[in-house]
Amino acid sequence: MADKTKILIDCDPGHDDAVAILFAARQLDLLAITTVHGNNTVENTTRNALSVLALAGLDVPVAQGLADPLAMARISVAAMHGKSGLDGATLPEPVRKPIAAHAIDVIIETASKHRGELVVALVGPQTNFAAALAREPKLAQWVREITIMGGSATLGNVTPAAEFNVYADPEAAAAVFACGAPIRMVGYNVTRLTGFDQGDIDRMKASGKRVAGTIADLMGFYLERQRRTFGLTVAPMHDVCAVVPYVAPDFIRYVETTVQVELAGTLTRGMTVCDMRTVRPGARSDVKVAGTPNARVALESQNRPLIDLVVDTLLTYS
Ligand code: RIB
Ligand code: CA
Repeated sequence: MADKTKILIDCDPGHDDAVAILFAARQLDLLAITTVHGNNTVENTTRNALSVLALAGLDVPVAQGLADPLAMARISVAAMHGKSGLDGATLPEPVRKPIAAHAIDVIIETASKHRGELVVALVGPQTNFAAALAREPKLAQWVREITIMGGSATLGNVTPAAEFNVYADPEAAAAVFACGAPIRMVGYNVTRLTGFDQGDIDRMKASGKRVAGTIADLMGFYLERQRRTFGLTVAPMHDVCAVVPYVAPDFIRYVETTVQVELAGTLTRGMTVCDMRTVRPGARSDVKVAGTPNARVALESQNRPLIDLVVDTLLTYS
């Protein structure tokens, strides 16, 4: 795959993680998957990643990562993704096991081997990458970019102020945002509005294709949970939004600004404090902000063409 962007996905499958994997495997050069605690235990998120690969007949190395956050107890959220972490459909048993190497080593070795070329997608709690940075600080220079689904430029989901991936390990997120690597962040303010509606689910189901039909069943479960909990009318494709820009660069609009993670706030622990003071509605992405920008932060998505691209990609699987 000479011209496709090289990517490693660190994830906690998770319904939207699963779609991000299938999308990246088709559209990009997906070199490896590393798994982390988050939507479920790391054992279950690893098993779910392997089952998604078995469903699609994909052979991508999966390395299991850390089971607990850096500096707090793991939070358990079966509410959104179900008891298994990927409820709503019967997935095939994994046909492969995780590779022997630990996720932290795989992140470091893959970035070292592909210096300046590797995009690392962090779409779960950022524990593995933060631990990798602690072990090898040069990692921040080796990666081409870190693309994060996490945080928010406005509201949270797991608390009014904090989005789940950052809230689940704020110390890790703080270390990642401060590491100096180029960062692209798509937060909950954008991703909650970017997802499959019932028409998309029906289209996948009507295709008669095994992969798209299974994803349709998973998304039906996920949409119902999101509708019941947040009143959303779409199954939000949070994690896919972190990957789409490497295929369709214009579908999400970003602004360069400063992002800091609140660690001490009683009501705001895990909040990504994004400096939007100079970002007026419709502001171009080169608007100047206070301080030294450390991230590009997503402001809005063209959700319909983005989702159409994702559905069209899923329909290419048998
Ligand atoms: O808040 C959304 C994030 O939390 C997504 O990555 C989803 O998979 C869950 O991990
Ligand atoms: Ca996730």
